[in-house]
Amino acid sequence: MNYSKFSITYLWFYKTNKELCGYVTVLADAINLQGKLKEYFRQEGIFYKSLPALKIGRLCVSDNYLGRGIGTLMIEFVIVLAEKIGSEIGLRFITTDAKRNPDPRKDSVHFYKRLGFEVLKQREKGTLPMYKDLIKIKK
Ligand SMILES: CC(C)(COP(=O)(O)OP(=O)(O)OC[C@H]1O[C@@H](n2cnc3c(N)ncnc32)[C@H](O)[C@@H]1OP(=O)(O)O)[C@@H](O)C(=O)NCCC(=O)NCCS
Repeated sequence: MNYSKFSITYLWFYKTNKELCGYVTVLADAINLQGKLKEYFRQEGIFYKSLPALKIGRLCVSDNYLGRGIGTLMIEFVIVLAEKIGSEIGLRFITTDAKRNPDPRKDSVHFYKRLGFEVLKQREKGTLPMYKDLIKIKK
């Protein structure tokens, strides 16, 4: 049971041996519109400073289960969850702060880009803020 209501974590177990193979944590978020995204919405006649989002706070696959599509499956789960929540309240984006690694095989930015996430704003150090537009998924 989650009493804080800050976030919810979904655990994924392998059916045969009941091992934990991954987890994803989600929470409510908002994107502050800036740069090309702000420009895009202005051209659409939308002048809000921020728009609602669902954030992936944590995403992790256990070492023994890496590279088997579980990370992709959990992102697909989050998209379905966002669509479901978005049918009851306003929700336009999925956001995340992607962990960077100089080794391209461990750089999660590549993983997210492959799944249609875009860079929200460039940062010299630390995690990279990224987003996925739920409207683009439907088009
Ligand atoms: C990122 C992570 C969740 C991916 O999980 P996964 O189950 O191994 O991913 P998938 O099997 O669905 O991989 C899908 C594709 O992304 C690529 N990929 C997976 N993890 C990657 C990573 N860390 N860096 C770069 N590419 C990655 C795979 O090569 C694969 O591409 P391909 O089909 O062209 O070979 C996992 O590597 C992980 O737990 N990393 C540590 C924690 C982390 O970085 N979390 C995300 C930031 S919050």
